[in-house]
Amino acid sequence: MSAIPSDDFAFLSNLLKRRSGLVLTPDKLYLVESRLMPIARKEGLADIAALISKLRQPGSETLQRAVTDAMTTNESLFFRDKTPFEHFEKVIVPSLLPSRPQKRLRVWCAAASTGQEPYSLVLTMAEKAAQFPGLSLDILGTDICAEVIARAQAGIYSQFEVQRGLPIQMLVKYFTKEGDNWRLKENIRQQVKYKLFNLLESLSALGQFDVVFCRNVLIYFDRDTKADIITRIAKILPEDGYLILGAAETVVGLTVPFQPHPTAKGLYVKAAAAALTPPAKVAAG
Ligand SMILES: C[S@@+](CC[C@H](N)C(=O)[O-])C[C@H]1O[C@@H](n2cnc3c(N)ncnc32)[C@H](O)[C@@H]1O
Repeated sequence: MSAIPSDDFAFLSNLLKRRSGLVLTPDKLYLVESRLMPIARKEGLADIAALISKLRQPGSETLQRAVTDAMTTNESLFFRDKTPFEHFEKVIVPSLLPSRPQKRLRVWCAAASTGQEPYSLVLTMAEKAAQFPGLSLDILGTDICAEVIARAQAGIYSQFEVQRGLPIQMLVKYFTKEGDNWRLKENIRQQVKYKLFNLLESLSALGQFDVVFCRNVLIYFDRDTKADIITRIAKILPEDGYLILGAAETVVGLTVPFQPHPTAKGLYVKAAAAALTPPAKVAAG
């Protein structure tokens, strides 16, 4: 690929860091070319240098947003890593329900991308409806990228996407075929609300949650940004709330008010709560 002058690279990495938290390291230069050339072409620009020059001009807000969105990695799949959804059903719901007389749990999927994560939660609990009568899930899916939020709302997935992680019996039961694609049934789609939201913003407008899924997004941020986001998440969770991170993410080594659940990998509980009561064990089977 063509080299980018170092001041252009510095400008772009500052822009991405400020707008989304994303840390652009020199080893990711190949991504700049592949993700941003389509935008340059759409703008009638010859190359990345011309695109960066346009980004530097006043009034480039829309272009800055398009560039930031294009640099996000939106990879997701149904039942990604499996265990978070098992923990939700076997550890989280059983431990929280006794102290929630209205049987209502608020869940936030903080980087929901194209919706596979929140919908996997809905499908998990739809299969267990008989075990938790009256349970009502209020799920909010957010993402910084408008395009993926629109896709999540539509709930339409390609053959390739439904073949990645989704059990075939769930495909038959909860989706309808639309041309070459599969669409989640309305009664499943309506259980998730979506909203465009940047994790760098104040979380207070979102309200309080019982459970926060923040998976496979913190890996793109630096230590301080990770710690800041996790610390702010603690403020919108009750003492018995849960945080779920991605398989490659951890709070270990960060100064944050969470600690790993003793038995359920990927699950985090508030440090203060962990000191007071032994957390629920993972149920067998
Ligand atoms: C790799 S996907 C993870 C999707 C899902 N959580 C999963 O684990 O399959 C990461 C998502 O984080 C979003 N993202 C990146 N920076 C963000 C920010 N500052 N605020 C909100 N979402 C962000 C991206 O747009 C992308 O859709």
